[in-house]
Amino acid sequence: MDRILIRGGNKLSGRIHISGAKNAALTLMPCALLTDEPLTLRNLPRLADVDSFGHLLNQLGVSTQIEGARPEDFGRVMTMRAARVTSTMAPYDIVRKMRASILVLGPLLARMGEATVSLPGGCAIGTRPIDLHLKALEAFGAEIEITHGYVKVKAPNGRLPGGRVRFPVVSVGATENALMAAALAKGTCVIENAAREPEIVDLCRCLVAMGARIDGIGTETLTIEGRDRLHGATYAVMPDRIEAGSYACAAAITGGSVDLVGADYDEMGATFDALREAGVTVTHEHGVVRVSATGPLAPLTLSTAPYPGFATDMQAQFMAMLCKAEGASMLTETIFENRYMHVPELARMGADITVTGRSALVRGVPVLTGAPVMATDLRASMSLIIAGLAAEGETQVQRVYHLDRGYERLEEKLAAVGADIERDSDG
Ligand code: EPZ
Repeated sequence: MDRILIRGGNKLSGRIHISGAKNAALTLMPCALLTDEPLTLRNLPRLADVDSFGHLLNQLGVSTQIEGARPEDFGRVMTMRAARVTSTMAPYDIVRKMRASILVLGPLLARMGEATVSLPGGCAIGTRPIDLHLKALEAFGAEIEITHGYVKVKAPNGRLPGGRVRFPVVSVGATENALMAAALAKGTCVIENAAREPEIVDLCRCLVAMGARIDGIGTETLTIEGRDRLHGATYAVMPDRIEAGSYACAAAITGGSVDLVGADYDEMGATFDALREAGVTVTHEHGVVRVSATGPLAPLTLSTAPYPGFATDMQAQFMAMLCKAEGASMLTETIFENRYMHVPELARMGADITVTGRSALVRGVPVLTGAPVMATDLRASMSLIIAGLAAEGETQVQRVYHLDRGYERLEEKLAAVGADIERDSDG
């Protein structure tokens, strides 16, 4: 298995190209199931999860073509076409490897009137049930059956009548499945307490480009007037705000200055507010976001929350950065029940972190030391990379397949701004 070696201490300086957003790509790709015409997505990131999702779509009868990307290019163009859907089943062996596979449930139900998808099961950061996905589909008129580890959904007479659902808690995935299911419903669907993440807005915009009728985009109440059919479209995936925020933390912890080329400043308010409060300079001039750290990092008190609050996907990366702050920070993870897997690994690098329930007290230390560490989930892996960039000596991050799921050409992007980093296979 590959591992990444980092010799810390270099200040990062230069420009980092921000790729298309993983969490937008994974909800835009299943939209191809909603029409028999081609859907072309531009600016698709070169990630393991995107490739896995392409393979899943192939199994359902969707043709996928990657166009023209040279290895050195960022962003791929993929054209998908579900002229005929040949299967409505997403099997366990695929879903267990990539939870986002559950996002074929809504579009398959909409297009084919039925779907059978393996229950995803939990993952490193929590149980991550899908009850809210099913609540929405049932509210729109679907019949639900859970048996032998699979969920089967069926639309009466092959088409959802429509309805109204109010989510008790905000769920990105449930909002996405509900939107895609509603797009072809017979009547109108209303989603209350919908997620407002930028990736949801990206999905709505893509669906509208395909002919869907959606009101309230960007708000917590989405009203979808079902259409008889959708048509093909060409749509560009939004930039990855979590990748951009991750590299901002890397610049900050090394006392460097990095331009996040392509980042959407307006979607990163909570991240940039937190960085500024930590004493980091964030500017936005001529369309370029620049993150610079000159002085010491100040400690923070942060709680994760649904957008526009501080993103749970940024928690591990900020924790790594705050390990070097002058003072004690308090982080509270309100979204997932087990998203502190990075803590014991950071502790092996000399971090001083105490977890009590959902909160972590991070006492800043003057020095982090490089060590062999183990990646456990995507964002935890990135927190180890961030710590390694500022640690004395060499850090070896194992199981980097977690990183490859969400960060395109990570070591190349970091090496280009001065990091002493390389990937090697540890056999
Ligand atoms: C999406 O996951 C993202 N993944 C996650 O990013 C992100 O952390 C999360 O949204 C929150 O922003 C993708 O977009 C592929 P949720 P999702 O449904 O949709 C509970 C990363 O690192 N819940 O908003 O699964 C759930 O357990 C990944 O890129 C239910 O109880 O998240 C969690 O506590 C990690 N029942 C909370 O809601 C449900 O039916 C939020 O989950 C669904 C969710």
